[in-house]
Amino acid sequence: MSPADPSAPVLAIDGPSGAGKGTVSHAVATALGWRLLDSGALYRAVGYAAGLAGIDLSDAAAAARCAAATRIEFRASATGELRVIVDGVDATDAIRTETAGAAASAIAAIPAVREALLQLQRDFRQAPGLVADGRDMGTVVFPDAGHKVFLTASAQERAGRRYKQLKAKGLAVNLSSLLLEIEARDARDASREVAPLRPAADAVVVDTTGIPVQDVVARVLSLVRGA
Ligand code: C5P
Repeated sequence: MSPADPSAPVLAIDGPSGAGKGTVSHAVATALGWRLLDSGALYRAVGYAAGLAGIDLSDAAAAARCAAATRIEFRASATGELRVIVDGVDATDAIRTETAGAAASAIAAIPAVREALLQLQRDFRQAPGLVADGRDMGTVVFPDAGHKVFLTASAQERAGRRYKQLKAKGLAVNLSSLLLEIEARDARDASREVAPLRPAADAVVVDTTGIPVQDVVARVLSLVRGA
């Protein structure tokens, strides 16, 4: 990848899991013709690679070495969908399970892992612009982003959305255990010492509870376009 272009505009979209960041980021990036960084996929890929390598997450140095050594690529499929390739193997579906999400959240709490992924994330900043989706895009990775949005929704609604997404993929899921997992992941993401989940001081907080996704996309686009 070419080096980062610090003059390229960045839209940081942060928020808890299931707030609609993925769908909104994708739609906004497409509308603007900007690149997209799915930072959660990076943590998921590292959690997955660490699992395959049998790394004990209490060994922070080994987890960080794994983060630095894992090759993660995003490739557009023939249908335009982004595939996540981990060390040469398509892991798109494997990293999307709730178990992979929990592994990502655990490995993401290790400061040396976050440090190991920092430059890789910043290198996504390229002209004509970048939509960066994550938990700490506006606070840590791109603190100078020109646009910052913090998307949120009630835990109930987020669990319901995740349920539909996973069901549509043919995965066996249970709504109440999904809600418990989402709450546990939120609590861990918000209470960790490094890069905890919180809105940047200059972020616009958008509560998407009960709001159709196209309306959220329109609102975010109008923020970027200054309308
Ligand atoms: O967004 P997604 O659900 O794919 O993220 C998976 C996990 O990765 C999150 O629960 C969070 O712990 C971690 N993550 C993070 N920082 C980011 C993106 C994701 O800590 N910027």
